[in-house]
Amino acid sequence: MASVTINKAWKRYGKIEAVKNLSLECKDKEFLCLLGPSGCGKSSTLRMVAGLEQISEGTISIGDRVVNELEPKDRDVAMVFESYALYPHKTVFENMAYPLRLRSHQYSSAQIKERVKHAAEILEISDLLDRMPRQLSGGQRQRVAIGRAIVRDPQVFLMDEPISHLDAKLRTHMRGELKHLHKELNATMLYVTHDQLEAMSMADRIAIMNLGVLQQVGTPDEIFNHPVNEFVAGFVGDPPMNFINCRLEVMGDQWYLGNSAFKIGLSPEMRKSLEKNGHAFDRSLDVRLGVRPENFTISAKKSTEDSFQVEVYVTEPLGEDMIVDVLLQENKLKLKTRIEFEPKMGDKIWLDINKRKMHLFDHETTKAYF
Ligand SMILES: Nc1ncnc2c1ncn2[C@@H]1O[C@H](COP(=O)(O)OP(=O)(O)OP(=O)(O)O)[C@@H](O)[C@H]1O
Ligand SMILES: [Mg+2]
Repeated sequence: MASVTINKAWKRYGKIEAVKNLSLECKDKEFLCLLGPSGCGKSSTLRMVAGLEQISEGTISIGDRVVNELEPKDRDVAMVFESYALYPHKTVFENMAYPLRLRSHQYSSAQIKERVKHAAEILEISDLLDRMPRQLSGGQRQRVAIGRAIVRDPQVFLMDEPISHLDAKLRTHMRGELKHLHKELNATMLYVTHDQLEAMSMADRIAIMNLGVLQQVGTPDEIFNHPVNEFVAGFVGDPPMNFINCRLEVMGDQWYLGNSAFKIGLSPEMRKSLEKNGHAFDRSLDVRLGVRPENFTISAKKSTEDSFQVEVYVTEPLGEDMIVDVLLQENKLKLKTRIEFEPKMGDKIWLDINKRKMHLFDHETTKAYF
């Protein structure tokens, strides 16, 4: 196996800059997810690594070999796309054997049989080898496509939204399967998805892109708990983080955060972390407050000095939890809470913010203060 190193890479299609100055390393045996909204340059990046697109500028290395000029077949990568095409007139066995047959000088037919058998065992499709693709379910077909990629034992797997088209239940199942497969194969995996839940649940590290630009690379925990900017903060988490325009005010040795609808005191720890990062304010400052839906406490009465009142817009019970949409002046916030009491539309309820879990962003640059 090997690492993939992307160094200052650009992808231009005429005037369109799909990938801008991307530097990123997928380490040996790592499961790295490229995550971002539609059109952010994920597939372009993957296709450059695979050799299916020219690299406009910069270098891509697999192991310590620069591959810019290498043909796809010489890069020792295997790719699985969303729209995998199985050969409809070949059996599952022959579909999986195909990449090996293309290299028949390298593999004897006994070796081909052995490799297909082994891949089929890993993917638990041994009993499907004689079937035709039309006789398979979507998930089974998808496993055959993966089987076709793993028979060769490539250095690197490149997967572009391989399970996006499956139904929700099968997708959840395949997430676990792919993660298990990654460990079993001891493989380097570069995996593209626009689904944050997929990335959060499978990846060792996640690289988030927006508009062709890398935003942050980190473990799922770092991305979720320490997003570097508003884009990352808003992209992971479901329902997404709430953002509220606020003003940070220093009054004597008290620091407050709020707007005309609420005002909360900042803890000494928060002030320290703001100051540690070089943000020593001696006056007021416009900021954006970010709070995830699960980091509010709801009560029927005012419970702390910082509690503030909101109006219930709608509730969405989800079994154990409930999503509550509330109005804080012109802001609509989404809260996620255990069902303890179900507020009614139009009710006034009180909120507290879990201050240890809140985020502050620069009003203009959208960068996180801590
Ligand atoms: N062959 C092409 N010619 C011109 N523009 C292209 C081409 N391929 C992609 N683009 C553009 O480059 C940008 C990035 O596309 P890319 O396919 O890499 O995005 P993506 O992140 O994979 O999106 P999605 O999640 O929708 O698959 C988009 O603006 C897209 O329209
Ligand atoms: Mg794509």
